[in-house]
Amino acid sequence: MLVLGIESSCDETAVALMEEVAGQVQPALLSSVISTQIPLHRLYGGVIPELASRNHSANLPAVLREALEKAGRSVHDVDVFASTAGPGLVAALLVGNTAAKALALAAKKPFIAVNHLEGHMLSPFITRPEGLTPHLALVVSGGHSLLVDVRGAGDYTLLGRSRDDAAGEAFDKVAKMLALPYPGGPEIDKLAAEGDPTRFAFPRPMMHEDHLDFSFSGLKTAVLYTLPKLTPSGDPHDLDRQTMCDLCAGVRQAIIDVLIHKAMKALKKTRHKVLAVSGGVSCNSALREQLKSACERRRVELVLPPNSLTTDNAAMIAFAGLLRARSGDFSPLDTPVDPNLKLAGAQTRK
Ligand code: KG4
Ligand code: ZN
Repeated sequence: MLVLGIESSCDETAVALMEEVAGQVQPALLSSVISTQIPLHRLYGGVIPELASRNHSANLPAVLREALEKAGRSVHDVDVFASTAGPGLVAALLVGNTAAKALALAAKKPFIAVNHLEGHMLSPFITRPEGLTPHLALVVSGGHSLLVDVRGAGDYTLLGRSRDDAAGEAFDKVAKMLALPYPGGPEIDKLAAEGDPTRFAFPRPMMHEDHLDFSFSGLKTAVLYTLPKLTPSGDPHDLDRQTMCDLCAGVRQAIIDVLIHKAMKALKKTRHKVLAVSGGVSCNSALREQLKSACERRRVELVLPPNSLTTDNAAMIAFAGLLRARSGDFSPLDTPVDPNLKLAGAQTRK
């Protein structure tokens, strides 16, 4: 079975081909092509939905052709077409979704509408030789922070989520406040490497509360109140480089402490022995290192996607589609896109 996945929910246009290999647990990722619009949206300090949508339309044909060429396959070889149906920007989602439906219709092959969060959540298992196993999932992307009890493909229970800003959103908003380019996560990560995380005592909201929800919006307020104490103008351009690095290190560590503390609490609760961490924030270097030590101490297996599969990509959409296709769980062609799509089966909390 050959699956073609398309991702266009935000500012990456991506196509991937994944093939089920007879006798092997894991499918083979034949190609994964990503065309990012980040340099374009950086000019505006964030994603402009109309521009994203127009550029998906312009870029998709070439990305599709390249993915097929790299995989050495023709569109006629594809057995299933999968695409992101949400959550995301509606006009951006429509481009990839409509293309996948049109290809499925023309080729008389099935279509699968994939949840972007499910794609991220399962992405650490694309490269794990043993395949998917029951685990605790921590999804930390630009728009969502989730803790999910995963018992198998499609069998999920939501344990916790962000009540306000997602972890990635917190990185991006603080970075904007510090006049750093979009997206803020990688910029803060870089500067934090030269900073002292103990110089500024930023809050760790909800860390010691019993539930597994997150709250990160207080961090940007804490940075907002800290800036005028450091420079009379309150302008981040007037800060010396070391202070900037220390601010970034303080913010990064506050986010990491909360994520790891809550993940460890959820592991204890669910008794899972595998923790899978995904989404754009999961390529944060310090988060990866500290998660590794925390999991080693508890004898928990940590599964992370390679850096190339942490931010938005279509390999994760093809993979989630392939797992659904194995059980014949196809979507009708009139399945709508939904900018607020929730993770199926993960609506209720324990
Ligand atoms: O998963 P993703 O590509 O898109 C969404 O589905 O939202 O995640 C993008 C987010 C952005 O907020 C970005 O700042 C963050 O991931 N990010 C990082 C790093 N690289 C990307 N955050 C922290 N450290 C990084 N190295
Ligand atoms: Zn994403």
